[in-house]
Amino acid sequence: MSFLLRPSYWLVILFLFNGCESIPFLKGSYTEKLESSVTVPQIEGASEKRDRYEFSGKEIIISSDHPLASQAGMEVWKQGGNVVDVFTASSFAISVLRPHSTGLLGGGFAIVYLPSKGKWAYDFRERSPKKGTASFFLNEDGTVIPGKTLKGAYSAAVPGNVQGILQIQKQHGKLPLSVVIAPALRYAKSGFSVYGDLAGAVTKTWPSMNQTMQKVFGIDNRPIREGELLIQEDLSKTLDRIIQNDKLEFLEGETIQKISEYYTAYENFISTEDFKNYQVKVSEPLMSSVWGHTILTMPPPSSGVHLVTMMNLYSEMQKRNTFPKGDVGEMIRITEAMRVAYRDRAELGGDPVYTNVPVPKLLSQGYSKEETNEIEKKVVSGSWPAVQEEGKKPESYNTTHISILDKDGNAVSTTQSVNGIFGAGQMVPETGLVLNNTMDDFAVAPGVPNLYGLVGSKANAIEPGKTPLSSMCPTILIDGSGKTKMVIGAPGGSQIPTSIFNTLYRYLIKKHDLYESVSYPRIHHQFSPDRLFLDPEIKPTYPQSDLPFYQVQYIRHRAKVFAVTREGDLLIGVSDPKGEGVPLGF
Ligand code: DON
Repeated sequence: MSFLLRPSYWLVILFLFNGCESIPFLKGSYTEKLESSVTVPQIEGASEKRDRYEFSGKEIIISSDHPLASQAGMEVWKQGGNVVDVFTASSFAISVLRPHSTGLLGGGFAIVYLPSKGKWAYDFRERSPKKGTASFFLNEDGTVIPGKTLKGAYSAAVPGNVQGILQIQKQHGKLPLSVVIAPALRYAKSGFSVYGDLAGAVTKTWPSMNQTMQKVFGIDNRPIREGELLIQEDLSKTLDRIIQNDKLEFLEGETIQKISEYYTAYENFISTEDFKNYQVKVSEPLMSSVWGHTILTMPPPSSGVHLVTMMNLYSEMQKRNTFPKGDVGEMIRITEAMRVAYRDRAELGGDPVYTNVPVPKLLSQGYSKEETNEIEKKVVSGSWPAVQEEGKKPESYNTTHISILDKDGNAVSTTQSVNGIFGAGQMVPETGLVLNNTMDDFAVAPGVPNLYGLVGSKANAIEPGKTPLSSMCPTILIDGSGKTKMVIGAPGGSQIPTSIFNTLYRYLIKKHDLYESVSYPRIHHQFSPDRLFLDPEIKPTYPQSDLPFYQVQYIRHRAKVFAVTREGDLLIGVSDPKGEGVPLGF
């Protein structure tokens, strides 16, 4: 335990609750700030929070959105686990600690990079059930039934989190399930103190929760409050069954029986057969060279390809001298790169098994050049198309991300979700499990925006067995010398790709340190609505009057970035200061 004696690793017990887990915060030692730190604008309150949200070490760092999830990872690391054991422990833990964001009936993606073994992209996202067709969500005249993809039993797709996490653990983990699931089991059984974000989510969702769910997240028939103890007894039993039965539990176990019983009241929309047929998809990560690094990100149906297109377009525009000089030119380059990437996403994005997503073309230099030529025409002629539509603003900020990096460059980047806040708002009786509402990630009808204001085409239409398009894009960067440089990802719906873009832009192009890069005011454009969203703090640099060709809205970019970088022999983790998490490590 010598690390505790070093002045840079001291333990602060910030928060204790009788009978439940305490939350330790380890103060970071990373003090070599860049000269620029003093003047770098950050989102409100971020500069005072650095000590809590930044942490450095030499052995391993994890960054997640709950201190106990980070701690769960470190607990198994100390028992001889590797980065994958850390991933499994923190994934199960976060599903207990942030049930409004993710859970065992959600889905996700993970990039696993073990330099001496290989690299993998795991897709364990939800799939449309065999019965899943758009007809469930449309009136006879073809209009959309309001809210049916958003709440209730039909909004859920077949989950994949448990199947995915167990498969990754089996392939690359070292420790038994009983060890890596132990922290999650403890948090569910002994409870933890409800924090503000969770209490707010319970209150907001309370009216649409089914009774089973209100029982778990309520006390005396009212929503549980901040500071109260949340015990999830049924969930602890489900976790126990997973330890006992391993992957069989989600193939045909008691949990699956209970889910199918629940669905007898809903036309068997999800059936035992859907769980039997569920396949985790394993492929090569999408790889590309960009901004001096090799990027490993998630292939379609994730939005990794659109993140890379965005970066390529920005680089191409930088080579042209036709753009205005200074801040306005930079804003145009970034905004137009985002607009094209999200247009591609809307028009082409979808499950590659059902639709051709032309990844090589989107990543090609020729494509960046052609698209930049079009942008250049607007810039040079000054004739910008009029802004047509109002559209929905992006909203709802759940889902979760975990970034893990060790001293040997082994890394896991994973984003997991039940989609909207508390997913479908339905708990399956006697399981403690909340259904996702990921059917809403399909384009229920072309041009109809989803929860995040995103539109899609036929490529992302609902079909049985299909995986919905996702904004999630867990990412890993390798530097020019072949070393793992960064592990990064975010929750935040449509704002996920731009939150990663903004952070990489600040870190790699503008050379800010990681904390500044994460907390720097952000820029967001998602093609539809045709509106430029800017964090309020950069209004003085970018007043609407300087950007007459855009409709600007000053509003907080809510995606939360979780990242770890390597700088020399130091690993530096940052959890977004907008969230509840902390990075931890040794
Ligand atoms: O996969 C997607 O794009 C969405 N289900 C992600 C949802 C999300 O990030 C919610 N907010 N934080």
